Amino acid sequence: MPPLKNDRYLKALLREPVDYTPVWLMRQAGRYLPEYKATRAKAGDFMSLCRHADLACEVTLQPLRRYALDAAILFSDILTIPDAMGLGLSFGVGEGPKFARPVESKSAVQNLPIPDPEVELQYVMNAVRTIRRELNGEVPLIGFSGSPWTLATYMVEGGSSKTFTKIKKMLYSEPQLLHQLLDKVADAVILYLNAQIKAGAQSVMIFDTWGGVLAHRDYVDFSLQYMHKIVDGLIRENDGRKVPVTLFTKGGGLWLEQIANTGCDAIGSDWTVDIAKAKALVGHKVALQGNIDPSVLYASPERIIQEVRSILADFGTGSGHVFNLGHGIHQDVPVESPKVLVDAIHHYSKPYHQ
Ligand code: CP3
Repeated sequence: MPPLKNDRYLKALLREPVDYTPVWLMRQAGRYLPEYKATRAKAGDFMSLCRHADLACEVTLQPLRRYALDAAILFSDILTIPDAMGLGLSFGVGEGPKFARPVESKSAVQNLPIPDPEVELQYVMNAVRTIRRELNGEVPLIGFSGSPWTLATYMVEGGSSKTFTKIKKMLYSEPQLLHQLLDKVADAVILYLNAQIKAGAQSVMIFDTWGGVLAHRDYVDFSLQYMHKIVDGLIRENDGRKVPVTLFTKGGGLWLEQIANTGCDAIGSDWTVDIAKAKALVGHKVALQGNIDPSVLYASPERIIQEVRSILADFGTGSGHVFNLGHGIHQDVPVESPKVLVDAIHHYSKPYHQ
């Protein structure tokens, strides 16, 4: 593998000195880019795009050609694991994800297989290998997975949910069954992420998109505990370099100290978090990733720059910050806006790294 030309993202996650603040954007490959829509049309449906290593590689690289991003993220989805467990994933046109066979009973939980990542999920590993080759050492490649709790919400509800009725019913009436499910999914995630690392992912991120819907006491028991188990089970060094782990819980600002105590390298935060306070609380233990409101990309260039400068000033001097959106990019933002954002982050962060 060629040496890494830009390792600011990996260094910042490990709180090592950098010359400017690195940035990447959650869901940076996607429908806000016309070239993504063209490649997606070529592939047919979304899962076919994920299964086709060359096309998945192409859409991974597309945002890097437009913007000076400091990392690439594997093009795939968090729902590949439940799909590989046999739940039958599909994405209807203009709809969210759907599972043909949601997890509805005790026997369904007990019979769930743990996929072999180099068999049922080999298409993901092939995408990782292809992307690493094509990146040619320009920037590091991020691998990812959903958190067990977030994956379980889709598996039990059968798709996206606003109310989380079925999984909350399970949580309060059959907690042991839910624990059994989460433990199994955590084992599957450990195998999956370690396979991504062996295939070439240089850092990994766990998306806990729905951890924030849990009650205060339940978050640690039903989400964080299982992310902690994953952190403990991951390969942390590969090819003589550390493989940093980032945990992102949307709405997780209440639990920063507990998240930092898992042994992760970085915490991803949404825009409700004051990054200055977060740094004061956990900055001695972990790096922080985030956390501009993705809707800022609808604003004028001047307003985008103002918001970037505020977040940079809040984080202040020193390493340990990876700039990002607080959640995924919206599909209707102007394609010029991410350029304004990325260039402003690089330009205005330099004085904080002298
Ligand atoms: O960031 C990237 O560029 C890498 C690719 C990536 C996708 N999904 C591609 C995708 C990543 C990291 C994800 C993670 C993901 N998937 C999460 C966690 C992050 C978050 O946003 O909270 C979640 C919850 C999912 C589940 C998921 N996948 C949903 C709910 C949907 C449908 C909603 C939608 O935007 O249509 C998807 C589909 C999906 N995953 C798309 C993309 C680009 C859109 C599919 C399309 O092209 O039609």
